[in-house]
Amino acid sequence: MKTEIKAITPDSIREAKNIIEKGGVVAIPTETVYGLGGNAFDDSAVAKIFEVKGRPSDNPLIAHVHKDYDLSQIVDYEPDYAKKLRQAYPTGPLTLVYPSKNKVSPRVSCGLDTLAVRVPSHDGAQAFLRAVGIPIVAPSANISKHVSPTSAKHVLDDFDGKIPLILDGGECVGGIESTVCDCTGDVPVILRAGLITREDIANIVGDCKVYEPTFAKGEKVKSPGLLYKHYSPRCQTRLFTAEELETAVLLYQSETKAGKKVAILCEDKWSSLFQTLGAPLFNLGKEQSEMAMKLYKLLREAEEKCELLIAIEPTEKTGIMVGVLNRLQKACVSEDIKRD
Ligand code: TXA
Ligand code: MG
Repeated sequence: MKTEIKAITPDSIREAKNIIEKGGVVAIPTETVYGLGGNAFDDSAVAKIFEVKGRPSDNPLIAHVHKDYDLSQIVDYEPDYAKKLRQAYPTGPLTLVYPSKNKVSPRVSCGLDTLAVRVPSHDGAQAFLRAVGIPIVAPSANISKHVSPTSAKHVLDDFDGKIPLILDGGECVGGIESTVCDCTGDVPVILRAGLITREDIANIVGDCKVYEPTFAKGEKVKSPGLLYKHYSPRCQTRLFTAEELETAVLLYQSETKAGKKVAILCEDKWSSLFQTLGAPLFNLGKEQSEMAMKLYKLLREAEEKCELLIAIEPTEKTGIMVGVLNRLQKACVSEDIKRD
């Protein structure tokens, strides 16, 4: 199959709609990362998404809808605090998990009685979702475990020959995936940190908890995606905190001496230190939103250029950095979490 990249125009949207209506999958841009989209009502389209991504069969998908979509068609119940969140963020990097039974293909939520719904703010995504008029399930458009894609080129690198069409909506400005927030209980609970923070949500609805799985055997993990190694570049990685900078420098020196191609990923404040050592550098920059936007792009560049990436955790750890740090830590773990 030939994979085409097309800018978003009425013609390419019509083509994408045709593919979706025939049960196919299409990559679409969003403001966070690119998604691999298919018809949420179509069992075989949903199965195709899992298959082409190599996604574990117990990791549910997010349904994407346009901003005037009638939510009652796909969810059973919406608590008042979720309504408030939707008013505050009619579109954007926020996914809300609702009680929902038998509304979309049972494969979407992998047997859970809930459905995750997101209304992306990206204009191209909105135009596409409005044209198709149905919920589109779309996981990040990367091969499972690989770094999420923030450009059409990243999607092509993972799926060339495997999907017919990538709608090109430019580089994603958000850079990390949406905040996933459970809305099935008395208060919202963040299942995956993102660009909308716990503080943002608590300011709107008064309270917001953060889900912390213990990974104990028998615990029903609320968001199965939490169990997996994720976002990982195809080179070796080592992660250090800023307090461990000296150890990172020693490792850089010894591995370079041993003949390995080593590079550094760090925030701007350490860049001159590593430059004086002559280290190839992937600079996350200074601002928090800049670091979020650049993280995946730099991880994908790094895997092309080095055998070992030494990453230094950004020093700021609050706000959106909770999400950035979470992605960086998962990118650098070596295996899925073992449950014992
Ligand atoms: O920004 C995003 O959310 C991107 C773009 C494409 O919209 N999508 C994305 O999808 O990141 P994916 O499939 O890579 O991640 C979905 C996350 C997973 O952690 C999954 O476990 C969780 O959402 N999730 C989906 N449905 C859920 C549900 N019913 N209950 C709990 N967690 C759910
Ligand atoms: Mg993903």
